[in-house]
Amino acid sequence: MKNLNIKLLLILLVALLALAGCSSTSPSEEAQDPERTFTSEELSEYNGKDGNPAYVAVDGVVYDFTELELWVNGDHNGFEAGKDLTEEIKEISPHGLSVLDRATVVGTLEE
Ligand code: HEM
Repeated sequence: MKNLNIKLLLILLVALLALAGCSSTSPSEEAQDPERTFTSEELSEYNGKDGNPAYVAVDGVVYDFTELELWVNGDHNGFEAGKDLTEEIKEISPHGLSVLDRATVVGTLEE
């Protein structure tokens, strides 16, 4: 009877170890892909209107402007989110590229 108990205990221990091994799949396997690729059509959906996020492309990089104070509803000094504004920020804006480090990069724009 004592032997049987020890055997049962050993089986239980082995089963527990096996279970612990199975559940240890690395969380990095579920990590998001930070470099999503957008087509111009996909980008146009992120115009900051109707609860959509406000994404803007500059030099092939897609930025998230949703939380920026000066881009409420995806609008900023007559410009709209959901577009490639490379020429506009470089040629027309007074600030140039310096403000882009306030935004998070969410992907790249497909050529
Ligand atoms: C006539 C054109 C534009 C004017 C007059 C203008 C003006 C301004 C001003 C005065 C600021 C605040 C600067 C500061 O806080 O240091 C600003 C911020 C900003 N601008 Fe423009 N801008 C223009 C076009 C653009 C364009 C085309 C883009 C496209 C990428 C852009 C992106 C930004 C961003 C991301 C910020 C930071 C917003 C924030 O921190 O809330 N701007 N702009």
